[in-house]
Amino acid sequence: MKEKVEALSEELIEKISKISNKKELNDLKVEYMGKKGIITELQSGIKDVIDKKEYGIEVNKIRTLFNDNYDKKLNELDTIELNKKLESENIDISLPATEIPIGSPNILESIIEEVEEVFMSMGYDVVDGPEIEEDKYNFELLNIPKGHPARDAQDTFYIEDESILLRSQTSPVQARTMLAAGGNKPVRMICPGKTYRRDADDATHSHQFMQIEGLLVDKNISLSDLKGTFDVIAKKLFGENCETRFRPSYYQFTEPSVETDISCFACKGSGCSLCKNTGWITVSGAGMVHPNVLRNCGYDPKVWSGFAFGFGAERLAMLKYGINDIRTFYQTDLRESKPFDRREV
Ligand code: DAH
Repeated sequence: MKEKVEALSEELIEKISKISNKKELNDLKVEYMGKKGIITELQSGIKDVIDKKEYGIEVNKIRTLFNDNYDKKLNELDTIELNKKLESENIDISLPATEIPIGSPNILESIIEEVEEVFMSMGYDVVDGPEIEEDKYNFELLNIPKGHPARDAQDTFYIEDESILLRSQTSPVQARTMLAAGGNKPVRMICPGKTYRRDADDATHSHQFMQIEGLLVDKNISLSDLKGTFDVIAKKLFGENCETRFRPSYYQFTEPSVETDISCFACKGSGCSLCKNTGWITVSGAGMVHPNVLRNCGYDPKVWSGFAFGFGAERLAMLKYGINDIRTFYQTDLRESKPFDRREV
């Protein structure tokens, strides 16, 4: 029996060494361990021998040998299979990467942040106000009483009777800020925010747009403080060579009122279509806070004075990035908005 098992073992090792895939390995298993397999038959032959102990030991030897070699071979084949798979999935790092579209900052937001930064560096607070506003703040406290023709200029969306509306300007935040300050301390604030008017949308009008309101109230404030402040922001946004000027204007809540102009950065003053051949571009309305407004909001105009201004945020962005249709900001067409990240003044 011993010799038989030794011969079988040699044969088994020889066969296993030649196996090169899992199918062959499985066939070998059937050949040796299957129902009628060589080892299975040996095992059942025990009933016919006298020295069962020795026979049993020898059968066990060949069974263990089979199992050990089978496991080893299976491991080997698995490793070969895995290596082949890894090889075929090799990543070619020299291939161009798949382009993943990433977002870019919204240019309106960028402009607003830029303006906020300049004003914060001058000690201004950035404040917020409600978009659904009371007539009282949007008009009345700003020296625009009911029935006043100045209201017509701002075609307002009313929500409830005539007292609740979508704010037509960010100026109501002036009133709110002064009232909250209590009439006895200086105020420096800017308020960027959405505004609404019943305008028909076209290249230069939108029923929803953004303004950046500004207000400074203190003692001994004059128009020259406004001029100096405007100069700082204009140079910051449009370059060191940007010049500024004021033109007389009319707003109900400022006296005197002005339109603020910057020198045309496109033609440097010689005249072009952007500045309508004037050499100047208007960027905001502004003025000295009207005494009535100061009084309405708890500030004694004999003691306090101040200036206010209102930029159109889209207008700033349109000028800075050469956009000629305000509707571009409110369309979600990526083909339109994508080029903006590459444009520079
Ligand atoms: N609220 C004005 C508008 O919507 C803009 C404006 C002009 C704001 C003069 C001001 C200002 O604070 O002083 O047309």
